[in-house]
Amino acid sequence: MSENPAGQKTIIAPSILAADFSRLAEEIARVDNAEWLHIDVMDAHFVPNLSFGLPVAKSLVPHTDKHLDVHLMIEDPARWAPDYANDFQSVTFHLEAVQDVDEAVALADKLRGVGTMAGISIKPNTPVEPLLDHLEKFDIVLVMSVEPGFGGQKFMPEVLDKVRALRERIDADGLSTLIEIDGGIGIESTTPSAEAGVDVFVAGSSVFGHEAPATQVTAIREAAQAALADGQ
Ligand code: DX5
Ligand code: ZN
Repeated sequence: MSENPAGQKTIIAPSILAADFSRLAEEIARVDNAEWLHIDVMDAHFVPNLSFGLPVAKSLVPHTDKHLDVHLMIEDPARWAPDYANDFQSVTFHLEAVQDVDEAVALADKLRGVGTMAGISIKPNTPVEPLLDHLEKFDIVLVMSVEPGFGGQKFMPEVLDKVRALRERIDADGLSTLIEIDGGIGIESTTPSAEAGVDVFVAGSSVFGHEAPATQVTAIREAAQAALADGQ
């Protein structure tokens, strides 16, 4: 993991949603050069798609030493998210799935109490402003750059305004909250995302849809680092 002088990091997190589910352990071995692995849990209620739940996610744990980054696209995260906190390094739930920011802060506190990093995610049309005064309560803010539910969609550059607002506040307040972007990330969309202030780049189809996934991970990292270097 690299870090620029302002504190912005470069972490690549391949999303296993785009991997071959019949051989997940082999698939994650193909992206051994990535910093994190991103695990999308979908319940067919919060999003119109179903992926897998805790047993499948947990089955990966013995196969890797990497940071496992769980993204819960589910209703009622207060009921389910704590079950993930013991086994995964970060657990992110959606602001739209809880009543309000206060409930999100309370759940994040609970997750941190178990020792995992707590993340909050917002869909493309959800404003970031309600979170800005509470960023110290979250280890990660995941900005969705597609409507959640499916891989392989087109990147929405308009969400980068939210990334810029987050970067500004995180740097101004000297926080270590990570900004993660998810949806339509490939080499091209990485450049403006890194310029806007993203630390963690989730990439599904651009990595696992490539015949050599590890080379894509390297290319995305290089694009992010080049954008940071250009901005200095
Ligand atoms: C979408 C998921 C993403 C998905 C990204 O709802 O949260 O993590 O795997 O896939 P790509 O990179 O193909 O857009
Ligand atoms: Zn995701």
